Amino acid sequence: MSSEPIIGIDLGTTNSCVAIVENGVPKVIPNRGGYRTTPSMVAIAENGRRLIGHIAKRQAIINAENTVYAAKRLIGRRFDSKEVQEAIENCTYKIVEGPHNDVRIELRGKIYSLPEISSMILSEMKLIAEQSLGREVAKAVITVPAYFNDGQRQATRDAGRIAGLDVVRIINEPTAAALAYGYGKSLERRVAVFDLGGGTFDISILEINNGVFEVIATSGDTLLGGEDFDYRIIEWLVFGFAKEQNIDLRKDRMAFQRLKDAAERGKCELSSAPQTELNLPFIISTGKNDALHLQRTLTRETFDDLVIDLCERCIQICERTLASAGISKKDIDDVILVGGQTRTPKVQEMVKSFFGITPSKSVNPDEVVALGASIQGASLMDEKTDVLLLDVTPHNLGIMIVGGYFQTIIEKNTTVPTSAAHIFTTVRDKQTSVRIMVFQGDSLRAEENELLGEFILSGLREAPRGEVEVEVTFEISADGIVSVSAKDLETGVGQSITVTATSGLTEEEISRMAAEASDYAVGVKTTDAFEGARAEVEAVIRDIDAILPKVRGIIAGSEFGEDALKKVDTAVTRARQAIESRSVDALKASKEPLERTLKMLKGVATKLGGP
Ligand SMILES: Nc1ncnc2c1ncn2[C@@H]1O[C@H](COP(=O)(O)OP(=O)(O)OP(=O)(O)O)[C@@H](O)[C@H]1O
Ligand SMILES: [Mg+2]
Repeated sequence: MSSEPIIGIDLGTTNSCVAIVENGVPKVIPNRGGYRTTPSMVAIAENGRRLIGHIAKRQAIINAENTVYAAKRLIGRRFDSKEVQEAIENCTYKIVEGPHNDVRIELRGKIYSLPEISSMILSEMKLIAEQSLGREVAKAVITVPAYFNDGQRQATRDAGRIAGLDVVRIINEPTAAALAYGYGKSLERRVAVFDLGGGTFDISILEINNGVFEVIATSGDTLLGGEDFDYRIIEWLVFGFAKEQNIDLRKDRMAFQRLKDAAERGKCELSSAPQTELNLPFIISTGKNDALHLQRTLTRETFDDLVIDLCERCIQICERTLASAGISKKDIDDVILVGGQTRTPKVQEMVKSFFGITPSKSVNPDEVVALGASIQGASLMDEKTDVLLLDVTPHNLGIMIVGGYFQTIIEKNTTVPTSAAHIFTTVRDKQTSVRIMVFQGDSLRAEENELLGEFILSGLREAPRGEVEVEVTFEISADGIVSVSAKDLETGVGQSITVTATSGLTEEEISRMAAEASDYAVGVKTTDAFEGARAEVEAVIRDIDAILPKVRGIIAGSEFGEDALKKVDTAVTRARQAIESRSVDALKASKEPLERTLKMLKGVATKLGGP
């Protein structure tokens, strides 16, 4: 593989996964521990070190307030939104308000933006790929829930930039899944991708036609996923405990983190077992020298009751999506289940009964999104790859008009990239400026939708009302990101307008954070480079140690023997010193003589020692 590598990253709420296409075959890149997905968790340890992935998850219980999970549920949202205010209630880490009404997280006294937190996970995925490929990786395709709005997409792209990645494209998770499902096959099918992950739900209907993947409709809920299923179990445990002991376990961060852990484990167990034991000894101390224990049995039946409304919400969204696309259920040839939460039997049962078909088992729900992202990456880099992706925008895009109403300019489910022009006129005599507020959403009332930003067209000619015409063009890129430009129709002069983002980071902040992250990345890489070189050198030493006794026996007494053994000694000593000096260069320099020595020993063993 000589061309520049491009990776696909599924940046999940719970787990992230990285993949690459090699020789035409998409494959997942396992992390250093051999796991094919990495927990999307970030923590700051007591000594200030950043911990990411499994290592962050393992210490979450004892460091609950400095461990971030499910950051994707907060990214690109406004601090004062209902969703964020609710999250603050049920979170073990501290959520604070940022300078742009954005959300920030405080860990050990330092404030981090959400793109920064996500960038740490992305950096880790980049590093996993670099270590496996043995070369630097700069380009990536990152996936987002199809239902993500402009703010959430921009924030994800910013996270990529902070991580030092060139984000070549942002693609929708269900679309990526369909791409991996249909890649390399001559299929002509209409499929529904039902993606219920850790934090989000998406449903997309696609037509696959021999390499052309066309999304017809998409919808979802960016706050509906495995986390909510877990929370139902937590509530059930908490209320049960409160009834018996009159203590609210949620008030204790460590107890809450343990409950969360146990709830998720129990939930997963219920996917294969009819019941599960939730056992949490010493869950809380009463302060009177006695600790209280929590022990309960949860049956699948009770669990199904606890989460039935969540399952129903998914099905209702499916129903609405089909209706908006004008498709009947029987027109769907295949249903693809994506996301770990689709392993819950109740979810599968409801999907099956709604669509009237057994969902396809041909894809791995944890890996298919990253694989699809890598396929899209490969096809963007290499025009020979036979894939064409036509995606849609998930929300209506429009502006606020008189009376606070929302006027749609680009309708949802329009294929992207797309643009639409709209002509604005003045409403008062001698009016020299117009204020335009851009929203995304489905409500007829503008304020019930997501405010993307606002801008002022100024310097208009003084004229009677209605005479001045300004054409404003709204564009949505293939990434689903919105931009706006304006032109004075009379003079043809372009108006320079800046949409002031209502959340997210400024250019300067992104550059500063990227610089900080790259400082840190160098630190990580040096150690990793050292560890990598050390592992290689130690492996050669082990081989030498293994073969040496045999060779000693063969060449004992001969002059050649003494000379050879001295060489072995020198090479090994030099390598051991290099390990102690912790110098990557010294280690690298010591490897070649070691390998030569090993080769020589092997030669002696086979030539003189017989078979
Ligand atoms: N065997 C199982 N039974 C039930 N749920 C499971 C099982 N295995 C994993 N899950 C749940 O799946 C969720 C994680 O799924 P996944 O890794 O697909 O999500 P994600 O990609 O991180 O999130 P999202 O796509 O929403 O951003 C978690 O809530 C996890 O508890
Ligand atoms: Mg996912």
